[in-house]
Amino acid sequence: MSFTFRPFSSKQRQLLNWWRPGSGYADRRIVLADGAIRSGKTVAMILSFLLWSLDSFRGQDFILAGVTSGALARNVLGPMTAMLETLGIPAEWKRGEGRLIIGGNSYYLFGADKDNAQDKLQGMTAAGAYADEAALFPRSFIDQMIGRCSVEGSRIFLNCNPNGAYHYLKTDFIDRADEIGLYRLHFTMDDNLTLSPRIRESYARSFSGVFYRQYILGEWVSAEGAVYPMWDDSANTFLREERAEEDLPFRGMRRFCAVDYGTVNPCVFLDVRDDGRTFWIMNEYYWDSAARRRQKTDAEYADDLAAFLDGDRNIQVIVDPSAASFKAELRNRGFRVLDAKNDVREGIATTAVLIGSRLVRADRKRCPALLREIHSYVWDDKARQRGEERPLKDHDHAMDALRYLCHTRATRFRR
Ligand SMILES: Nc1ncnc2c1ncn2[C@@H]1O[C@H](COP(=O)(O)OP(=O)(O)OP(=O)(O)O)[C@@H](O)[C@H]1O
Ligand SMILES: [Mg+2]
Repeated sequence: MSFTFRPFSSKQRQLLNWWRPGSGYADRRIVLADGAIRSGKTVAMILSFLLWSLDSFRGQDFILAGVTSGALARNVLGPMTAMLETLGIPAEWKRGEGRLIIGGNSYYLFGADKDNAQDKLQGMTAAGAYADEAALFPRSFIDQMIGRCSVEGSRIFLNCNPNGAYHYLKTDFIDRADEIGLYRLHFTMDDNLTLSPRIRESYARSFSGVFYRQYILGEWVSAEGAVYPMWDDSANTFLREERAEEDLPFRGMRRFCAVDYGTVNPCVFLDVRDDGRTFWIMNEYYWDSAARRRQKTDAEYADDLAAFLDGDRNIQVIVDPSAASFKAELRNRGFRVLDAKNDVREGIATTAVLIGSRLVRADRKRCPALLREIHSYVWDDKARQRGEERPLKDHDHAMDALRYLCHTRATRFRR
């Protein structure tokens, strides 16, 4: 596959040429391109990194890192091999060694999520490194990666979407750019000349709240206060009785059940109908073993679930992946069990869009725990000070079930 280069924006050209003598920034060692999604950071950075490394070195080792090896293959290697083909530069892939050979240099591939990723880095002496989506890497990986670049003239290329205001890339890299020799380029969607207004709008509609500010506006802002401030007590609820004439359509809809399993902690089931557009949360089950002073066994929970779903077994049950014993119990009883997608950040972003678009609605009378939790579900202040963005783990069980539902089933909203 070849890559069709389109005209680069002036921001992209700055990223392409920053390392060249005379650019004004060639004395910097690190470049960091941050900003909005789809703003042209990765395309320009891959080409910049390739041209720089081929121009400056031969026979050296380089690091190519992604959040996971899958993400690296998709977001970086795909476009990179296509560009090499267009440019007529041969590349050889040594699968067993996890490296690409280009122009006599070796480019070693890393997924930053692997526990042993840093160990593999440890033995290396590199002339340069490229990290895609660097804000999602553990800091230890980034530090180790920079530490490995000890060859004279080495450079480090980082790109990412913004994260919280206390993230280490903001406080220790961007805010200290001059001190640490970092050249920062901030991208907006205007910096990608290939984006049509229609595509831009559809991206903008896919995010709301803090994610809109981070992913669309490109700001390093922390999530504070309510996780779902866009929830509206009338627009996001309904009452089954008030829709009596529509009860028949409810019956014809696809039905799911989302489960947040807990033994010591509360256990939640949500009974959901999907009309292809809106998730109607018809009913909830909430068992708080601490408050009730009695823990239930998996068999008891499975009995409760069967009763809760009126004996209907032909229903997809979405369960948090960690609940292994409960999933086995459900499978034994003939339920169709699906592992929930468990990524908290992405899951909350998807749920927020669905709530903001009023595509999630809960029965006012039958979902009291969900309605209580949604108003008390807030971002964790203490975690934020440490640079981590996550909700306070308190009264969050219906919230987890809701997130599993939205993130696992709402394929049409995922980017
Ligand atoms: N100069 C260019 N020539 C051809 N296509 C381009 C160019 N610049 C951007 N694009 C197109 O725009 C898309 C988005 O660009 P890119 O992947 O670099 O954005 P990004 O800022 O890395 O986005 P994200 O933050 O979502 O990873 C690319 O997939 C590519 O199709
Ligand atoms: Mg990118």
